[in-house]
Amino acid sequence: MRSLLSFLVPLLTLVSLSSARVHRAPAHHVRQLATTASAPSSVAATASTTVTVSGSVLPTNATSNSTILPTFAFTLQSTNPTAVPLSSIVAGATSAPTSPLSAIPAPGSVPTYLPGAPPLPDPNTLRPADYPPLDKVPPIDSPQVQQWIADVKNSGVAIPGFSPNVLGGCSANPQAASDPNRCWWYCGGCTRKTDITDCPTHMEWGLTYDDGPAYHTTQLLSYLDQVQLKSTFFVVGSRVISFPSILQAEYLDQHQIAVHTWSHSYLTTLTNEQIIAELGWSKKVIKDVLGVTPNIMRPPYGDIDDRVRAISIAMGLTPVIWTRISPTATFDTGDFNINGGLVSVSGVLYNWENIISNATARDRGFIVLEHDLFQQTVEIATGYILPDAIAHNFVIKPVVSCLGLTYQDAYIELNDNKTNPPLIEVSGAVSLTATPSGGLIQSTGTSGNSASKKSASNGLALAVATAFGGLVAGSMIIF
Ligand SMILES: *[C@@H]1O[C@H](CO)[C@@H](O)[C@H](O)[C@H]1NC(C)=O
Ligand SMILES: *[C@@H]1O[C@H](CO)[C@@H](O)[C@H](O)[C@H]1NC(C)=O
Ligand SMILES: *[C@@H]1O[C@H](CO)[C@@H](O)[C@H](O)[C@H]1NC(C)=O
Ligand SMILES: *[C@@H]1O[C@H](CO)[C@@H](O)[C@H](O)[C@H]1NC(C)=O
Ligand SMILES: [Zn+2]
Repeated sequence: MRSLLSFLVPLLTLVSLSSARVHRAPAHHVRQLATTASAPSSVAATASTTVTVSGSVLPTNATSNSTILPTFAFTLQSTNPTAVPLSSIVAGATSAPTSPLSAIPAPGSVPTYLPGAPPLPDPNTLRPADYPPLDKVPPIDSPQVQQWIADVKNSGVAIPGFSPNVLGGCSANPQAASDPNRCWWYCGGCTRKTDITDCPTHMEWGLTYDDGPAYHTTQLLSYLDQVQLKSTFFVVGSRVISFPSILQAEYLDQHQIAVHTWSHSYLTTLTNEQIIAELGWSKKVIKDVLGVTPNIMRPPYGDIDDRVRAISIAMGLTPVIWTRISPTATFDTGDFNINGGLVSVSGVLYNWENIISNATARDRGFIVLEHDLFQQTVEIATGYILPDAIAHNFVIKPVVSCLGLTYQDAYIELNDNKTNPPLIEVSGAVSLTATPSGGLIQSTGTSGNSASKKSASNGLALAVATAFGGLVAGSMIIF
C-alpha cells in the first residue's frame, strides 16, 4: 500500500525576488520579514491511505521586483505526520522557534564510536578573536596562513599555474569554461577520478547537508536521531565559530564532519594563497572544536577546477561534489533557493522526484545537494524529502560509510593510512607542472600505482587507483 501525496497549487505563487543568492550571512540576516499570507492548507487521509495536500500560497505584497514562480506537481510516497504545511515553506516565512540541543555535549566527552578520538575540547575556550573575521576571505599574511602556504609548497603536489577566474560564472570566464585542462566542474561538470561524486552501491545515498551549523540544524539532528540516520555535514568555518556546540553534537551523534571553506566563496576566483587560507582556517576551527580534522571538502557551489583540486589534495582534503547525470541535471534539490524566493517548495519537491527516479535507475548510488542553513531547507528535508526517501528504501549513510570506509577514515588524525592512503601520499609521487598555456604536464612516479593497488577495495583508494589508470584524452592530467 502506497501513500500518495499530491500537491496542487491553484493560485500562482508570487514571492518577492531577492536580488541575489545571499549565501554568506547567518540565517537570521538573510531571512526576509514575514510578508507572505498563506491560505490554510488541508491534509486529508483517505481510506486508501492516500494523502492529499492542497496548499495555496497567496501573493506577497507585490513589488515591481516580484516574480511569479511556476508551480509543479509531484507525488511523494510518504511525509512526516508532523511536517509543517508546504504552504508555510516559503520565502519570508515566519521564523519558527529553534529547538535546543537534546543534550549539550560535555567537554571531555569521547565519541565512543570513534576509537582513538581525543576528548572533546571545551567550546567555551574558543576565542573568535583568534580567527579571521567571519564570512570574509581570510587574510593571507598571518603566521598560520604563511605556514600552511609553506606546507602546500613542501607537499610535493604542484599547483597548476593558471590564474583565478573572475566572479560571474561561466559567461564571465569563457576561456576557462571551455578549457578541458582546467576541468572546471561548475562550468560543464568536468570531474577527475579523484573527485567523489556518488556512492558506489546501487540505491545507496551518501546523505549530505551544507552551510551549517545554523539555527535550525538542531531540528534536523533530532529528526535524524528519530529515524536513526547519519549524515555528512559540510560545515562553514565561520558558522563553526558561531555554533560550536552544535558541531560537537553532530560529531558525538556519529555524523561525519567535513570542510566547506571559511567564507563560502567561489574558490576558483581566489588566489592559491586565499584558497589555502579558506581551507586551512576551516580545518583549524573544526580541529579546535572537535579535536580531529576532516579529510574531505566540498567546494561551495561546486566551484572547483584543477587548481582548487590540487590545493585541496595537498592539504589532505579529498573533494566531494554531488551527482551529475547530464549537462543540465545535477542532483541539486534547489532547497537553498526557497529562502531567497527563487524557487517554490513545489519546485524543490519536483526536483526531488526527478532525483529519486534517476537515482533508482542508475547502477551506482548517489549524492544530493541539500542544506541545513535555513528553516525552509530543514523543514522540507525533515517533513518531506527524508520520509519519502525512507519509503523508497534507499540505504542512507554518511559519505564515508557509503564508500565502505570506517568513521576513523573520515579524519586525518585517525585515518588508517595503509588501507586508505590520503590522496596527497599518492599524489606526492606525481609532479604536476603548469605549462605556459596553463595545461598540466604529468610525470608519474612509481609508488602511486602500488600504493593504490594495496587498498583498491576501499572507496577513496579505489578512486585513486582508477585515477592512475585513466588519463584524460590528450591532456596528460592525472586527476
Ligand atoms: C529592484 O531591484 C533592483 C536591483 O536589485 C533595484 O535597484 C531596484 O531599486 C528595485 N526596485 C524596486 C521597486 O524595489
Ligand atoms: C506593501 O508594503 C508596503 C511597505 O511594507 C506598505 O506600505 C503597503 O501598504 C503594502 N501594500 C499592500 C497592498 O499591502
Ligand atoms: C531524470 O531527471 C530529469 C530532469 O533532471 C528528468 O527530465 C527525467 O525524466 C528523469 N529521469 C527519470 C528516469 O525520471
Ligand atoms: C595518518 O597520517 C596522518 C598524517 O597525514 C597522521 O596524523 C595520522 O596519525 C596517521 N594515522 C594513523 C592511524 O597513524
Ligand atoms: Zn554551500
